[in-house]
Amino acid sequence: MPLHLWSVLLLGLGLLALAQSGPPLRTLAEKRGLQIGAAVEPNLLLQDPEYARVLAREFNLLVAENVMKWGALQTARGQFNFGAADLLVDFAQKNQMAIRGHTLVWHQQLPRWIYDRFTPAEMEAILHQHIQTVVGRYRGKIAYWDVANEVIGDDARPRTTPFDVLPDYLEKAFRYARAADPKAKLFYNDYGAEGLGPKSDAIYALLKSLKEKGVPLDGVGFQAHLDLNFSPEAARMAENLERFARLGLEIHITEMDVRLSGPGSRAERLRKQAQIYQEVLQVCLRQPRCKVFTLWGVSDAYSWRAASEPLIFDADYQPKPAYFALQRTLQQP
Ligand code: G3I
Repeated sequence: MPLHLWSVLLLGLGLLALAQSGPPLRTLAEKRGLQIGAAVEPNLLLQDPEYARVLAREFNLLVAENVMKWGALQTARGQFNFGAADLLVDFAQKNQMAIRGHTLVWHQQLPRWIYDRFTPAEMEAILHQHIQTVVGRYRGKIAYWDVANEVIGDDARPRTTPFDVLPDYLEKAFRYARAADPKAKLFYNDYGAEGLGPKSDAIYALLKSLKEKGVPLDGVGFQAHLDLNFSPEAARMAENLERFARLGLEIHITEMDVRLSGPGSRAERLRKQAQIYQEVLQVCLRQPRCKVFTLWGVSDAYSWRAASEPLIFDADYQPKPAYFALQRTLQQP
């Protein structure tokens, strides 16, 4: 067959595939007043054109999976590397996507130097400089910042961090972030708090006390790293989200993925995975303060849990049943 006929055939097949997979999620989400996001690694934008294409086609929000963490941004004290983060911000802007910044205070992925023994005054200066520099650089470009990530441990008590030397470091982090970009909405983000229980109770108490003290906190992120034994069930999750909503907080699903591993046939597990994505999206759509639904990656190939295929596109960018479940759910009245 002559070359041009091959191109026509390939173009036809491409259009057919697109038509078969239906309207992109971002188009449907926009109609529902929802932002649908994915966690992004900027090096993949350069290495894998299909990654960039699927990301821009399906999502209208992105979050830095790793490149806006302390360890990536401030490798040596006072020395900032913004290359990868800038790339991500440029990509989002070119593709009309909102950005979620992640994260300003976390106990992980910190640079080695921050474990030196600093005095409270030194730590205050370090925290202030980091937040002022990072949030300030992207002022007006980042819609939401995860100011605090996973402060409460699985035992429902605050975790130990190098920031502890500074009393009220958490409050200060929020205040510095507000000063650096008054328009960005500021979030507390955590996992394992989707349902009712000691950990979500502890987070609730913490956020309530921050609000009562007038700390500039706008919202709470529920990560939703789940598996096929979706626990809590949807009704408990809805109940939990509602109490946070009553604190006046905006609610985001921030890092959803669902591990496929477990008993049963592959087809059954894919169905169950789809059902869990659908249930969590429904909980969000039914909660008037839930405005963002974000997945922790695009394709199974690059997931932090790649072996358990937790995302909605497989490693070849084929939409999985979970993709179609989200698409259907967004189309339901
Ligand atoms: O960048 C280095 C690279 O230079 C090196 O060659 C390679 C070898 O292992 O490691 C690379 O760093 C890895 C980094 O991801 C980037 O790929 C780290 O080892 C690895 O630990 C790091 O994992 C990230 C993890 O946070 C760190 O705890 C995951 O990608 C990221 O998905 C995960 O994200 C967290 C959220 O921030 C908070 N909520 C939970 C979520 C899942 O754990």
